[in-house]
Amino acid sequence: MYWCACALLFTGVCSVFSPVPEQLSLSGTWTLSGQDGALVLPAVVPGCVHSALRREGLIQDPYFRFNDVSYRWIALENWTYSTTFAASAHLRSRQEVELIFDGVDTVASITLNGNLVGKTDNMFRRYDFSVRELLKEADNLLQVQFLSPVVYASERSKAHQSYRVPPQCPPDVQKGECHVNFIRKEQSSFSWDWGPSFPTMGLWRDVRLEGFDALQLQQLSYLPLYNGSGSQWGLQVELLIDAVRTTGVQVTFSISELGLEQVFQTQFLPGRTKRTFTFNIEKSSRVKLWWPSGHGDQPFHLLSVRVFVDGSLMLDREVKVYFRTVELIQEPIPGSPGLSFYFQINGKPIFLKGSNWIPAHAFQDQVTPAVLKNLLRSAVDANMNALRVWGGGVYEQDLFYDMCDDMGIMVWQDFMFACAMYPTEADFIQTVREEAVQQVGRLKSHPSIIIWSGNNENEAALATNWFNISASQRPVYVKDYVTLYVDNIRKIVQKEDPSRPFLVSSPTNGVESEQEGWVAADPYNPHYGDVHFYSYLSDCWDWTTFPRTRFASEYGFQSWPSFSTLQPVSVGEDWSFDSRFTSHRQHHQSGNQQMLEQAALHFHLPNATDLLRRFTQTLYITQVMQAQCVKAQTEFYRSSRSQVVGGKGHTMGALYWQLNDIWPAPSWSSLEFGGKWKMLHYFARSFFAPLLPVSVEDDGALIIYAVSDLSADLKLRAVVTVHSWAYLDPVCSRTSDLRVVPGGSAAVLYRQPVATLLAGCGRCTRLTCLLTFHLEDSAGIQQGSNNYHFLSSPREAEGLQRANITVKVQQDGGGLTVTLQSSSIAAFVWLDVGNIPGRFTANGFLMLSRNKTVGFEPWRPTSAAELSRSLTVTTLRDVY
Ligand SMILES: *[C@@H]1O[C@H](CO)[C@@H](O)[C@H](O)[C@H]1NC(C)=O
Ligand SMILES: *[C@@H]1O[C@H](CO)[C@@H](O)[C@H](O)[C@H]1NC(C)=O
Ligand SMILES: *[C@@H]1O[C@H](CO)[C@@H](O)[C@H](O)[C@H]1NC(C)=O
Ligand SMILES: *[C@@H]1O[C@H](CO)[C@@H](O)[C@H](O)[C@H]1NC(C)=O
Ligand SMILES: *[C@@H]1O[C@H](CO)[C@@H](O)[C@H](O)[C@H]1NC(C)=O
Ligand SMILES: *[C@@H]1O[C@H](CO)[C@@H](O)[C@H](O)[C@H]1NC(C)=O
Repeated sequence: MYWCACALLFTGVCSVFSPVPEQLSLSGTWTLSGQDGALVLPAVVPGCVHSALRREGLIQDPYFRFNDVSYRWIALENWTYSTTFAASAHLRSRQEVELIFDGVDTVASITLNGNLVGKTDNMFRRYDFSVRELLKEADNLLQVQFLSPVVYASERSKAHQSYRVPPQCPPDVQKGECHVNFIRKEQSSFSWDWGPSFPTMGLWRDVRLEGFDALQLQQLSYLPLYNGSGSQWGLQVELLIDAVRTTGVQVTFSISELGLEQVFQTQFLPGRTKRTFTFNIEKSSRVKLWWPSGHGDQPFHLLSVRVFVDGSLMLDREVKVYFRTVELIQEPIPGSPGLSFYFQINGKPIFLKGSNWIPAHAFQDQVTPAVLKNLLRSAVDANMNALRVWGGGVYEQDLFYDMCDDMGIMVWQDFMFACAMYPTEADFIQTVREEAVQQVGRLKSHPSIIIWSGNNENEAALATNWFNISASQRPVYVKDYVTLYVDNIRKIVQKEDPSRPFLVSSPTNGVESEQEGWVAADPYNPHYGDVHFYSYLSDCWDWTTFPRTRFASEYGFQSWPSFSTLQPVSVGEDWSFDSRFTSHRQHHQSGNQQMLEQAALHFHLPNATDLLRRFTQTLYITQVMQAQCVKAQTEFYRSSRSQVVGGKGHTMGALYWQLNDIWPAPSWSSLEFGGKWKMLHYFARSFFAPLLPVSVEDDGALIIYAVSDLSADLKLRAVVTVHSWAYLDPVCSRTSDLRVVPGGSAAVLYRQPVATLLAGCGRCTRLTCLLTFHLEDSAGIQQGSNNYHFLSSPREAEGLQRANITVKVQQDGGGLTVTLQSSSIAAFVWLDVGNIPGRFTANGFLMLSRNKTVGFEPWRPTSAAELSRSLTVTTLRDVY
């Protein structure tokens, strides 16, 4: 909003000096042309070339079948975006007019009315140019000429002659492009082991003109300051100002709820200035604290910032400010070599439960607020409190972090470098420095972000020599590594944001890596820092194969998405597990084979003669396998939070790989492309529950832990129920003594050799029976969720019948419900409603009673009849 309040009263016309800056948005429909002018089409900004071609019907759905390869040509060409606009006399009369691009993807030359205004080479930077002198009244022509990112990356790598900067190319199975490490662009856009190669080009964020006569605010950020000894809060507010006029500036900060009013007189030199204002909050006792989900609320205070020049109100902003502290504790643990590694929020140690976030679409313009909200809501609904924004994607849009602030999701924020060595030419370092300053400035006000991390797996890549670098060459790469992440990025973060911990890499040994010259001999050392752990072929039900790490920031298993997610991007001939399509979509070497091998350890593989049936049941069995594997591993990590065994333990984080998908394909995700919950996501809702009973078998003994993320101590006992696979009524049950389970701990409640447990219980054997268990309080009231323990693989289970399950869908006051009635015990009961958006309250469960009712939460209006028509039920015994 702007109006001419200034000199109107005296002269009757608006004077040249009008205080409020004005904006002219240049987003909207531009013209896009291919390199020889053969293709000319409208293109929406923000957007990209692929989305524009698709919208005009010039290409099919890029995700359909083999189109990732068919449309490779798009990224090998050069493309030009152009637009024309009028610039009013008023705008042109401003002292300064800036042309601002919030995001240019990636390598481009920008001209205005034929004059080169600048060049870009970094998708993660904002670019602005002073253009006042170049503007005219009408028909201003703004052109952005993009160079193929693939060609650019290749040329940059060729120019780097002294030594190679690996990897040169992704593995063939990814069908991707080479040398992505030479371009500051979403690294996974050249392909990944879960994603297609769509190297995008375009204006992926807003474009606008900003005119002003005195000054303009480019960025407003703040950091809460906490004086631990005095319980005193303060605030450090930073203004990034572009100024023309310099003197007579008054800045006021107020938070009415806290009775705060601070006034500063200041001045600005012409040009860009970063100015920091620091003040105490006298009424600190009134400050409301932000907590992660599950540990409290996410309140904020409203800070009003006003800037006056010569008494005229120039800028008036209101922003949410949140108060919380974060510490990463790395200190000795009694009885354990190495150091702890856990986060403390507001002084409270918190176990991080969650997953890893990747770009939600190959084309960022299609990551709408609704898409983000659905994915993040699903994370919180599964009892997650943390996500790691992984370093091969993008620094997410503001809305992502706003929603994380609001939902209490802690964010582990990587810098965007992944699985590669990187060059350190002066211009590369320079653009990365600017990227780091801008991104830290943009994001540091978000309480959700609790840590910065320099890269994904690059310390490990060097330490364990992924790229076959000879011993004599190694120092060159270590030097580059230290230059980029330590001497540049780390220094910038420490200067711009001293409020958060910074790790150079993930996984890393933290302060131990630092002592070893930033590249530890073994960054996977379980005694230090975080660990990434993958093991596809060893039996995932065997907890002894898992590292008892301080913090598991990546681990996981692949599965296939459901048929309803694949169907829109495939045709009939694709629907078998050995089709060309099925192997084309799998970007991880031997991935399809590994899933079946892991599944076969515990389950019969589907063998229906009907091929479509066999295919859909194979999709199902991969989801069962994945859900069980990640459950076993996560429960192991959670149960290790209070223990030191053989010098290892005190695990304080479990972030499995990966939350979401970039396209409909097999991957490690628990949410399918489009947001549908895989079986794993339903399992996550259980295995991340705040109060959870966990079983492990150690040397033939069944041990049951109570794992509590609650604040209060509880008095609990474990109740174990023995069931026969052959019939619905339980065989017998056992109860432990009551014990105190301290808040924030994992306590052993029950320990008994399985043989002893079964001996007193009918004619049960490991093959004929299984166990369920839960926790209850002294009054016999169940606390927390149910869990189960298999005594043998379901593949060997004796007596498991093919259940006759009938379902009834109803709509009543409480919403949509599905009531199941079963003739016998059924395992991994899976309710699927095709592409009807929504989720069940439980799914993939063990059916141990005749009746069970689950709710369905639709994500758009849905009738019982519609749900009933789409509903199918699959159980383990149905597939063989
Ligand atoms: C794209 O532009 C560059 C730089 O002008 C040029 O060298 C290259 O040949 C162009 N690419 C194609 C496919 O024409
Ligand atoms: C912190 O608070 C204590 C007690 O109020 C005070 O003595 C000390 O100077 C404060 N420190 C800082 C850095 O403000
Ligand atoms: C690794 O590099 C050495 C030379 O340094 C070469 O002899 C060897 O074949 C390479 N190994 C692989 C797997 O590329
Ligand atoms: C399955 O159960 C339903 C309801 O209990 C019954 O009507 C039906 O006959 C049963 N079908 C089979 C094949 O047993
Ligand atoms: C299960 O549901 C059926 C049909 O609603 C009902 O007749 C039966 O009593 C229920 N059985 C149990 C054990 O609740
Ligand atoms: C599928 O496998 C099961 C268990 O091995 C076997 O009993 C059944 O006969 C097989 N069915 C077909 C159609 O091969």
